[in-house]
Amino acid sequence: MEAVVPEIESVLHETRSFAPSAAFAAASALDSQRLAALRRRAAQDHEGFWAQQAATQLDWQRPFDLTLDDSAAPHYRWFVGGRLNASYNCLDRHLPERAAQDALIFENDDGDVQRWTYAQLHAEVCQLANALRALGIDKGDRVVLYLPMGPQAVMAMQACARIGAIHSVVFGGFSAESLKDRIEDAGARLVITADAAPRGGKRVALKTTVDLALTEGCSSVERVLVYQRLGGCVMDPMRDVWWHDVVPQQPTQCEPEWVESSHPLFLLYTSGSTGRPKGVQHSTGGYLLGATVSMQWVFDLRPGDVFWCTADIGWITGHSYVSYGPLSNGITQLIFEGIPTYPDGERFWRMIAAHKVSIFYTAPTAIRSLMRLGDELPLRHDLSSLRLLGSVGEPINPEAWLWYQRVIGGGRCPIVDTWWQTETGAIMIAPIPGAMATKPGSCTLPLPGICAEIVDEDGQPVTQAGQGGLLVVTKPWPSMLTTVWNNDERFRDTYFGRFGPRVYVAGDGAQRDDDGYFWILGRIDDVLNVSGHRLGTMEVESALAAHEAVAEAAVVGRPHEIKGEAILAFVVVRGSREAALKADLPRELRDWVASRLGAIARPDEIRLVEALPKTRSGKIMRRLLRAVGRGETAAQDTSTLENPAILDQLRGS
Ligand code: WTA
Repeated sequence: MEAVVPEIESVLHETRSFAPSAAFAAASALDSQRLAALRRRAAQDHEGFWAQQAATQLDWQRPFDLTLDDSAAPHYRWFVGGRLNASYNCLDRHLPERAAQDALIFENDDGDVQRWTYAQLHAEVCQLANALRALGIDKGDRVVLYLPMGPQAVMAMQACARIGAIHSVVFGGFSAESLKDRIEDAGARLVITADAAPRGGKRVALKTTVDLALTEGCSSVERVLVYQRLGGCVMDPMRDVWWHDVVPQQPTQCEPEWVESSHPLFLLYTSGSTGRPKGVQHSTGGYLLGATVSMQWVFDLRPGDVFWCTADIGWITGHSYVSYGPLSNGITQLIFEGIPTYPDGERFWRMIAAHKVSIFYTAPTAIRSLMRLGDELPLRHDLSSLRLLGSVGEPINPEAWLWYQRVIGGGRCPIVDTWWQTETGAIMIAPIPGAMATKPGSCTLPLPGICAEIVDEDGQPVTQAGQGGLLVVTKPWPSMLTTVWNNDERFRDTYFGRFGPRVYVAGDGAQRDDDGYFWILGRIDDVLNVSGHRLGTMEVESALAAHEAVAEAAVVGRPHEIKGEAILAFVVVRGSREAALKADLPRELRDWVASRLGAIARPDEIRLVEALPKTRSGKIMRRLLRAVGRGETAAQDTSTLENPAILDQLRGS
């Protein structure tokens, strides 16, 4: 790991501060006094604080006996002895009061709208859960979901949770190969998919990709359950089952499987600094508690809210703030199948006005791309229903923050910039909007009960404002990952290998300002963040290396105005560089990576070079490559470079 280098210069000079309006603060459930009391309680008695939250916020079939078992740290177990069901907490417990309230408002790619009340959603989830049981799926079995963004995806997650099966959602943009790797690692017995899905007016052939993945391996898969969204796919009569043939006739009641608090609720594969994505494993009780309380605190939920999180269910944000958090809190949410720019750049604003969205949660990359289209488009729409705006997934630059606040929020909506990760399960550092001032570019302070700190390379706390360090969490928290699927060693090494089993190392650099506010500086490992999506440089490198024309490849991120980070690959070819350039190999390689990993991993630029910069001991000089990617021509330490002459090629000149 290299030294922490602050890369977002503009962020560091930002000093403006925005307090919530008196009216907003007065109507907030969590005002500054109550927040102070929560923080005090959490600081005095970490476990007692979480025990009280768990007992009051979730419904348990059997109460827990022990709040935290840390005897096998870092394999922590929360709420030991307690039994619950996540789907019961998301659906059944709301029925007495909210059966007729909308749970989901779904707008599809074409703009058609469908609604599900809590009673309807409950009934359909029960039917699907019964169908899964009829297909032989039991508690603990893994089910891979490869579905379009929509109600069926939420239902599938809930149905798995209902019967204690472990879901693993794979983002619909991932390739057959990526899907295959995840299915095999999880040992899934069932895949739930759709024939095809519309996305931005285009057809995404999900089932074809599943077929491809399964012909290449995946011997654990017995059945494929196919939801018909568009029509027109080939079915294997021995293996594939239509959703409409097996789900609608099932009973609309389904007894939930009561599981131990630490029973895995789901796996979600995410990129790290090695070539293989890891299956981040989350528990039922701890995870659900984190999703539930963070949602209440950070989004300041109030009766009548319409919440819209634009994340796809293929990412952790779609798990915690589409499937579990909103439903566990019994609120109404909008879900959307499409993309922000289809049929035009007004899509989001039109939808906010049409559905009277009050809380809107999206990613900086979307904000930046819509900001570029100008103020006029959002100003054409009545956005007065908005009360609160959120940001997630990557650092938000102050310019985008201020535009979001002024143009979308009309200057009246607080912005909650939320820092967290697939591994943390729920928001960790974010403002409590009715109780705190916000600053553009800062995710502010850790939530109550979250002990985030900044330490130096030796693990010593960084006390000085403005000094960068490693972001760590020094006490376990309920929604933390419990392990990496089938790989405890990797779990311990990756997150707890540096400062011992008590200190979770997040992989981000951060610093604090004079008010103690946190400013995230970005990843300090070989993880890229492209449009808010996590990708490992090694994953892209191994995809490149698998091409016959490639001898060696190194991949770095470089700043990108819209995407946050773009992918730059340096490639050494077998044979002549000139011939490869003539044959337009860079373009072929970009497509190659997209076909192997998925379109989000398509490199933005490929530079063919005669050699990679290496030290005399043979290590690729990644820091030099990153500097080259950033266009820095300032003196680099190239004294250890084996072949200084290649610098010009690296710079693309
Ligand atoms: C980055 C997404 C700055 C960070 C929820 C983290 C952020 C990685 C923010 C996790 C934020 C997420 N400000 N950076 N508000 N939120 N990140 O697992 O680098 O897809 O480590 O989880 O995104 O990405 P993941």
